Amino acid sequence: MEKNTHVDLVVIGAGPGGYAAAFRAADLGKDVLLVEKDETLGGVCLNRGCIPSKALLHISKAISETKDLSMAGVSFDKVKIDIQKVKKYKDRIVSQLNKGISSLANARKVNVLKGQAKFKSNTELTIRVGKEAKKVTFEKCIIASGSTAATIPGLPKNNDKVLTSRTALELKHIPKRLLVIGGGVIGLELGQVYSSLGSEVSVVEYLPGLIPGADPDMVKPLQKKLESQFKTIKVSTKVTKVESNSDGGFTVSLEGQEKTETKKFDSVLISVGRKPNTDLLNLSATDIDINEKGFIVVDVYQRTKVKNIFAIGDITGNPMLAHKATHEGKVAAEVSCGVSSAMDARVIPSVVYTNPEVAWVGLTEKEAKEKGVKYEKGEFPWAASGKAIILNAEQGKTKVLFDPESKKILGAAIVGPSAGDLISEACLAIEMGADAEDIGLTVHPHPTLGETFAAAAEVYTKTITDLYIPSKGVK
Ligand code: NAI
Repeated sequence: MEKNTHVDLVVIGAGPGGYAAAFRAADLGKDVLLVEKDETLGGVCLNRGCIPSKALLHISKAISETKDLSMAGVSFDKVKIDIQKVKKYKDRIVSQLNKGISSLANARKVNVLKGQAKFKSNTELTIRVGKEAKKVTFEKCIIASGSTAATIPGLPKNNDKVLTSRTALELKHIPKRLLVIGGGVIGLELGQVYSSLGSEVSVVEYLPGLIPGADPDMVKPLQKKLESQFKTIKVSTKVTKVESNSDGGFTVSLEGQEKTETKKFDSVLISVGRKPNTDLLNLSATDIDINEKGFIVVDVYQRTKVKNIFAIGDITGNPMLAHKATHEGKVAAEVSCGVSSAMDARVIPSVVYTNPEVAWVGLTEKEAKEKGVKYEKGEFPWAASGKAIILNAEQGKTKVLFDPESKKILGAAIVGPSAGDLISEACLAIEMGADAEDIGLTVHPHPTLGETFAAAAEVYTKTITDLYIPSKGVK
């Protein structure tokens, strides 16, 4: 690439939002430059987030399932883990997908530049490529530079036993005693991975419950499972100090509601949320607005205050999820190419890929109560599902919330194996404005876990035959 270049569209960041934006714009005929500071494409999600963590969670789930099989008369020898092979398996998946994205970029003639972009003005970027600085002027720009792990004050510096989601996925060592700080999505997913790989895991969560965004009744079956796998789970407890010990471990101060105590661990994982990567961009050289939490402010067209600069994904705020970024990326690409488009998704689903999985979309009961939104619900316990019983997943549940007037679906939540896959039907139902009858009268295949979604609607319409609910009356 020339030292000074002018492009139709430059996309900063090649995560699931950035590469989707670049590809969509290229498909719409734009000359696109995709700038990425990492060696490989795919961003946090592919290189050190969703994909490698799900690969490891797959192993963790398989180990748990083989243990469950003993009750069906099938048992295996003690689990043997070759951590180098586990790493290779995970790395191969990441590398296969890296190559896939590169070939999709090549096929579309998207120019990829490995370097770090900084704004010089509302129409110009400086891109540092190794020791060289390139100047890129643009008609349009899409910022998709994501987020990084947040931290807490007072952590020992330059200590590779203080893990972030990024370093935890490298599997450099499997600690004997691991403390997970933060009982959110990352903490529980990676806690379960390390527990399966042999660590004794403890979790400390500041708020009164795990996965604060989800309804507590949906988290309960997961919590029960984690209580059997983890050494301790402490909620309403804050980590106030982490001190290095001479033996290479840590002494951690835990401040609970009633007492403060210290505990020793060999490694700590910090999973206390993520923060937007706005500081790397020199946004002060532009007229882009940033809110008090550091996120770039955008409108429904994903446009910043500077109308030729768009922003998408984690850098624009919560939820920080790959599928939100991808959707926003396509919207930004389309708007920047003059196609009529807007970010008008009714809902963005959330999934915790633990075993069991927890997934929810749209209104939660917690949110409804906080905001005073009227709702009614249908719940189907998986103890009444043949497929769930086969899978030893009787603790699962499907819950659907409805508008008492229109009977339209407002939200849904599922806990159990494959909840993350099952929730898609609820997303479609919400997007299509389906009501309880639409869902209950849709013939679902039997025996499947998918049936439980229709069954929850039938509980609500009182047409369920797989349960007998005398208090509700049967029509
Ligand atoms: P999170 O926001 O889900 O959870 C962080 C937790 O740490 C909160 O519950 C918070 O109360 C707690 N906390 C904060 N300070 C603490 C302290 N000093 N002591 C104890 N607890 C403390 O954030 P997480 O898990 O780091 O995930 C970050 C982002 O990445 C989220 O936005 C999430 O949506 C996304 N993500 C999504 C995944 C998925 O969709 N499956 C997987 C991984 C990440």
